[in-house]
Amino acid sequence: MLVNATEMLNKARDGHYAVGHFNINNLEWTKAILQTAQELQSPVILGVSEGAGKYMTGFKTVTAMVDAMVDSLGITVPVALHLDHGTYEGAKACLAAGFSSIMFDGSHYAIEENMEKTKELVALAHAQGASIEAEVGAIGGEEDGVIGAGEVADPAECAQIAGLGVDFLAAGIGNIHGVYPANWKGLDFDALQRIHEATGHIPLVLHGGTGIPADMIKKAISLGVSKINVNTECQLSFAAAVRKYVEEGKDKQGKGFDPRKLLAPGVEAIKATVKEKMELFGSVGKA
Ligand code: 13P
Repeated sequence: MLVNATEMLNKARDGHYAVGHFNINNLEWTKAILQTAQELQSPVILGVSEGAGKYMTGFKTVTAMVDAMVDSLGITVPVALHLDHGTYEGAKACLAAGFSSIMFDGSHYAIEENMEKTKELVALAHAQGASIEAEVGAIGGEEDGVIGAGEVADPAECAQIAGLGVDFLAAGIGNIHGVYPANWKGLDFDALQRIHEATGHIPLVLHGGTGIPADMIKKAISLGVSKINVNTECQLSFAAAVRKYVEEGKDKQGKGFDPRKLLAPGVEAIKATVKEKMELFGSVGKA
C-alpha cells in the first residue's frame, strides 16, 4: 500500500538518517527501486516529475502501475508516490490521481505568492491524507527544462513556509541538479544549520543528490536533512550498463535484442545505485 511520506520522514529525522527519493521514468525504474527497497527493508519515495508523468501517459497511469506493482511484488516496506517539483496545477492533478505525496515548487514566485499557493495545497493534500513538500530558494541546475540559479534560501522565508503546515521542506543550500561542475563550492552548512533552527526542525529535503560526496551527505543528515533526492545518478548508471551490453554486441547474440534482455543490465545498475544510496543515507533496515 502507498503511504504518505510524513511518518517515514519524521522517523528519519528523529533517527538521524535520510530516506531516498528516487525518480522513476518507466516500469523498469519502478521495479528496480521497489525491489531494492524491499530487499534492504528500507522505506522509499518514488519521485515523479511532471515530464516523467507525461512520458508515462499521465499521473493516473503512474498511480495504477505503482499501486499494482507494490501489490504484485509483495512490497511491504513503506512506499510513497511523490510528485517532484510540481506546479500548482500539477500538484492538484496528482492529488486527484491518487498520489500519496506532492511537492509544490513555488520557489520561482515571490514569497507572498509561494505562501498563498502552498497554503491552499497544504489544505488539499492533508484533506486526503497526502503529504506535501514545499520549496524556498530555487535549486540550481536544469530539470525538465526548468533552470534555477544555485541559491541559498533565506531562513526567515523558510520559517514562513514551514509555518504553513507543510510536512517537509526543500531549501536551497548551494545544491544543484545534475552532475556537479568541477568548480562547485559544496553545500553551505551554515545556511543549513540556520534553516534547521529557524524551521523548528521540520524534516529538510536535499535535492540534487547525484554526486554529493559521502562526507557532505552525512553532515547534511546530521543537520536535519531527512529526504535526499537522486535522479541523474540512476540515469547515468542505467545508460552506461545498456551501452556496455550493446557495445559488447550482446544484442546481436541469440535473442539478445529482446527488450527484457537488453534492459536487464540497466535495471541491475539502477539497483546497485539505489542500494549504495540507501546504505549511505542509513535507511537500510528502517522499514
Ligand atoms: P539529481 O538529478 O541531481 O540527482 O537531482 C534529483 C532531484 O533533486 C530531483 O528533485
